[in-house]
Amino acid sequence: MNLPFAENYKIKMVEPIYRSTREQRVQWIADANYNLFNLSSDKVFIDLLTDSGTGAMSDRQWAAIMTGDESYAGSSSYYHLKEKIQTIFGFEHFLPTHQGRAAENVLFSVLLKEGDLVPGNSHFDTTKGHIEYRKAKAIDCTIDEAFDTDSTFPFKGNVDLAKLEKVFKLQPQKNIPAMIMTITCNSSGGQPVSMANLKAVKEMATEYGVPVIFDSARFAENAWFIQQREEGYSTKTIKEIVKEMFTYADAMTMSSKKDGAVNIGGFMAMRNIDWYDKASTFNIMYEGFVTYGGMAGRDMNALAVGLDEVTTNDFLDTRIKQVQYLGNKLMEYGIPIQQPIGGHAVFVDAKKFLPYVPKEEYIAQTLAIILYLEAGVRGVEVGTLLADRDPETNDNRYPKLEFLRLAIPRRTYSNNHMDVVAAGLKNIFEIRDEIRTGLLIRKEAAIMRHFTVLLEKV
Ligand code: F0G
Repeated sequence: MNLPFAENYKIKMVEPIYRSTREQRVQWIADANYNLFNLSSDKVFIDLLTDSGTGAMSDRQWAAIMTGDESYAGSSSYYHLKEKIQTIFGFEHFLPTHQGRAAENVLFSVLLKEGDLVPGNSHFDTTKGHIEYRKAKAIDCTIDEAFDTDSTFPFKGNVDLAKLEKVFKLQPQKNIPAMIMTITCNSSGGQPVSMANLKAVKEMATEYGVPVIFDSARFAENAWFIQQREEGYSTKTIKEIVKEMFTYADAMTMSSKKDGAVNIGGFMAMRNIDWYDKASTFNIMYEGFVTYGGMAGRDMNALAVGLDEVTTNDFLDTRIKQVQYLGNKLMEYGIPIQQPIGGHAVFVDAKKFLPYVPKEEYIAQTLAIILYLEAGVRGVEVGTLLADRDPETNDNRYPKLEFLRLAIPRRTYSNNHMDVVAAGLKNIFEIRDEIRTGLLIRKEAAIMRHFTVLLEKV
């Protein structure tokens, strides 16, 4: 008999989580104005809100915490991290920040001005937020396959080169200060970008004089998919693949809370010394001095170890196979999800799941609330709420896809937990035709509203 796959770690410390009754959850979610971000975590049994900062660190990372150097300037922890970033990504200059969006804030302060265009595969919401806040425009050049959840195209994070070239051709180059490749592409379902696409994008961008920035939050997962799916990479190590990927970038922003395997932190890195010099000033203003930028020395130490750990098959096989375990279970039950299954999350196609809920009543948010009521599981809406209103018309932007995202924290839950999530969704799927109404907005913020929106039942 073949031996089954099992996690390549054992557990040294545990944290209790709490079950609740449906009656309790009915009350709690009403008190939370049907916004799952408003729930305190003890009211959640299995928390798949995000894989960001929610993972478990290894004993080696905890050991590195103890040797953190908390000097204001020039700490050894900064130099450890600098060296690790140089080795793994090949960038000479780097600035630490307190998380990913802070790196976006600092770098975009250098690069963007009103009226600029920033094309990419599909921008994450904080990235889009930082672009639009500066009255620049984020343009998604997503490939059409990404919008067909049944298509099993292996690299749905790819940029459509024809769409990209159209943007490049329309605008004078001075109005396109950079383009952004998000790897993996969170918005389209944790979908990877192929090496061939990264290379082709870089070549085209170079032709038009546009620098390429990688939004790198899940870069290691992207490398794993290249290794598994792209011809010529199956015998390469993750570290070799990562190294090649970043030769096609001029700079990177990073949320270390994902593929840095730490609870907080971020950074940006680049080749261009002029960008570094300018960004240093903004970093000092917004984040902290250039050798800590919002991070404790101990956290930089843990990140240096984390970057090493995540760029291995030991780590990534276990991580992504758990995501696939949940996705495959849902498919077995006939539940519509974005295929192929992505790297950090399973994205349930809420429009197909709840065909009778009108789009004006926030289909994916409705499904997220029903799942919480059914099983105490917290997912997150990646749909109309997240898409915000059009800054010009103030109308809701209805994205092509409405997803309920079930993001799986790294090294945190067992497959028994995944079974609970799958069973909860199956129960809802069986009565889906009875669900015909959703939610209405009572109060919302002008930008990034999904975090704080107040909703009520129709
Ligand atoms: N880029 C991507 C692709 C992300 O997914 C995120 C965060 C960020 C940038 C911003 O990083 O949170 O450290 O400031 N994504 C989280 C999520 C919040 O749940 O997907 P941050």
